Amino acid sequence: MRVLVTGGAGFIGSAYVRHVLAAHPGDEVVTLDLLTYAGNPANLAELESDRRHRFVHGDIADAALVDGLVGECDAVVNFAAETHVDRSLLDPEAFARANVVGVMTLLDAARRHNRRMLQVSTDEVYGDIPPGTHSVEGDALLPRSPYAASKAGGELMCRAYAVSYGTETVVTRGCNTIGPRQYPEKVVPLFVTNALEDKPLPVYGDGQQIRDWLHAEDHAAAIDLVLRKGTAGETYNVGAGNERPNLEVVRAILARLGKPESLIAYVPDRPGHDRRYALDPGKLRRELGWAPRRDFMSTLNDTVDWYVANPGWWRAIREGQAFADYHERQYGWRLAAAGTLPAAAG
Ligand code: TYD
Repeated sequence: MRVLVTGGAGFIGSAYVRHVLAAHPGDEVVTLDLLTYAGNPANLAELESDRRHRFVHGDIADAALVDGLVGECDAVVNFAAETHVDRSLLDPEAFARANVVGVMTLLDAARRHNRRMLQVSTDEVYGDIPPGTHSVEGDALLPRSPYAASKAGGELMCRAYAVSYGTETVVTRGCNTIGPRQYPEKVVPLFVTNALEDKPLPVYGDGQQIRDWLHAEDHAAAIDLVLRKGTAGETYNVGAGNERPNLEVVRAILARLGKPESLIAYVPDRPGHDRRYALDPGKLRRELGWAPRRDFMSTLNDTVDWYVANPGWWRAIREGQAFADYHERQYGWRLAAAGTLPAAAG
């Protein structure tokens, strides 16, 4: 089969492209990516000479382009999205455009060509989950950030196309994902690269927020299973069962790097910060037999070690103007500046 992977030059998208090419020798992949700030051609560099892979530079909201590509392919997997909660608080509109209107454009093409489309979504659509409970697929969607709301909107558009037009859609809701090649605005790669440069690690609030951590390769395998075997119209949680408070993750990063805990800097909390996400992954396990291959420490250590081994990849991003500007806007200090946190320090 030939799979159209939108957002395939991003973090989980590029892990998925590699997964398909390795796991299905008869398959081909067409990657469509706009290469906005987090899409990175370097993420697919090793595939340049692979004749089963083709890269197309373009926008999922470009209806004519998308129509042609969907027509050439057998299925669509959509990773293209604005993904960072903090950026969504600074600029919500970009999130509605990419994560709702972009999804709708893909759905229009999937509908016209009668193709299956998998929409990659997030556990954040469930909102803040109280201790002791886990989200199941039928739970209410109660997003609390512009990012989460836009992802819920994209999912609901899939549902509407499935019901109204009979378009074959499946949705995955993944938990926090880490691994090689994640843009260093997300907490784990930000903290690993800050620590490698002996810069402070800005922990929001009390650092007791809980996330469930999944390796990108495990996430990619789950998405692929749902694409091929999932029931049309259904949604599947992709959770790892690795719930950890942020501070524990931060301490494990510092321990792996041999860096001191004095690098931890408590800063004011993110507005509306969800305390906990926690998925029940039972449906995916029961119905499709999926389980993650890595445990928490192997997931985290593989991630940390990749950044240690690939400084060229992340330095090219961190030394660029766009990242420096975002960082200063978000944290109040320029990365290039030596060590201390000014006003933001708690
Ligand atoms: P993030 O990687 O932004 O993912 P999400 O908010 O989508 O789960 O953040 C993960 C957790 O880390 C979240 O609880 C917010 C926290 N965090 C910090 O404490 N400091 C930071 O600088 C960032 C980016 C996140």
